[in-house]
Amino acid sequence: MARATTRHVCQACGAIHPRWAGRCDACGAWNAITEEAAPESAPIGSKAKSPKRGGRTVDFVALDGEKQKTKRRKTGIGEFDRVAGGGLVPGSALLIGGDPGIGKSTLLLQAVAGLTKSTVGARCAYISGEESIDQVRMRAERLTVTNAPVALAAATNVRDVIATLDTSEAPDVVVIDSIQTMYLDALESAPGTVSQVRASAQELIRLAKRRGITLLLVGHVTKEGTIAGPRVLEHMVDTVMYFEGERGHQFRILRAVKNRFGPTDEIGVFEMTERGLEEVANPSALFLADRNDDVSGAAVFAGMEGSRPVLVEIQALVAPSPLGTPRRNVVGWDGGRLSMVLAVLESRAGMSFAGKDVYLNVAGGLRISEPGADLAVAAALASALSEQPLPAEMVVFGEIGLSGEIRAVSQMAARLKEAGKLGFSQALTPKWRSKAAKEGITVRECASVSDLFGLFPEQSAVKPRAVG
Ligand code: TYD
Ligand code: MG
Repeated sequence: MARATTRHVCQACGAIHPRWAGRCDACGAWNAITEEAAPESAPIGSKAKSPKRGGRTVDFVALDGEKQKTKRRKTGIGEFDRVAGGGLVPGSALLIGGDPGIGKSTLLLQAVAGLTKSTVGARCAYISGEESIDQVRMRAERLTVTNAPVALAAATNVRDVIATLDTSEAPDVVVIDSIQTMYLDALESAPGTVSQVRASAQELIRLAKRRGITLLLVGHVTKEGTIAGPRVLEHMVDTVMYFEGERGHQFRILRAVKNRFGPTDEIGVFEMTERGLEEVANPSALFLADRNDDVSGAAVFAGMEGSRPVLVEIQALVAPSPLGTPRRNVVGWDGGRLSMVLAVLESRAGMSFAGKDVYLNVAGGLRISEPGADLAVAAALASALSEQPLPAEMVVFGEIGLSGEIRAVSQMAARLKEAGKLGFSQALTPKWRSKAAKEGITVRECASVSDLFGLFPEQSAVKPRAVG
């Protein structure tokens, strides 16, 4: 029998090298060469032979044919199912990424326990490479799911896992916790390296497609914020979800960043409690719970997360800086975008942040990526600079352009509706060109950033200055 061989491939240019080197001779990239299984070696567990030269002809069909209806299995955790696009699709591979300790194992154990409920009746297996059987049992006890018929195993060798699962009685759903602990003995590199992670995932995904198993892969995120290694896994799976949150906070957010079977940008909100993760049905109320009405530097942003409006407080602090280059610190938003908003406020509205440290924080541990938050950030900054609070019952949304103009954002009516539900009566918005109802909310339309001055009657630090 031929021994399984490996080769060294540059991840930047694809050049194949006989042995590992720090630098690729072909393209000059550093640290880009990783060990991979040579393609001749047949996938584990399959009888496939190497492809013949001629190939078979492919049948073409029309666009409007009989489609197979994807039947989905619901975990019963509403927030999870929605982010997954309405339940788990058989034969699909999902990657759940997140920092260590954020709650991935907890979430997935609760999810598989839900799937085994009599209404869904899916057979589920949980394979832990990280924790011992006892540790998982202890968690199950804490989550009060010990009586769910989940098949539990501790294993790290992919060959063993595949040999176990590749039968006609394969489970419907398999959790691999985590992909970084799995290894293929054909490769020499250690578990957790790019080549091991990629090759292990590839074998497991191939098995999942062949047997119609829903594969849930847990992936730890590296310090740089990517799932090890260089995002290779994201291309291989059907769905990528990130489980995020601040360690000190009890809120956790599940976010789909790629989904072949559903929408992306959906979020699910959870709260980590003593007895596991609980769904949060009304996240806006949660994010605004500790709000203090009367402080300057805070604005309530009416945002959209996927199909759902979410209200969240944006906090800004502007303080004199002892440093030559003042600090610009951001939590929960994009630092580059903050620099842009500051530059626009300086050059188009004459607000001066020179010599001042600027801190921006999205309260509650949420991460916002929408440009529609620009105006709320600008309002919070202007409020912090002038030391005057914004009206307590006001929400803000709108995108800021480089010339200082305020641009429309999507779903303005849905945002107002959510604000109304939570007792807000005013909104600072872009020009209201749509015919959509204003939901009984007093709308103050803004054409440009200089309209922000109207919010602060006592003009102190924020003074309109002739621009141009
Ligand atoms: P875990 O699911 O092990 O995280 P991950 O798999 O992402 O590494 O979650 C670990 C944290 O969650 C740990 O700090 C304890 C906390 N936790 C609770 O607060 N309540 C619970 O019911 C459980 C099971 C965990
Ligand atoms: Mg874990």
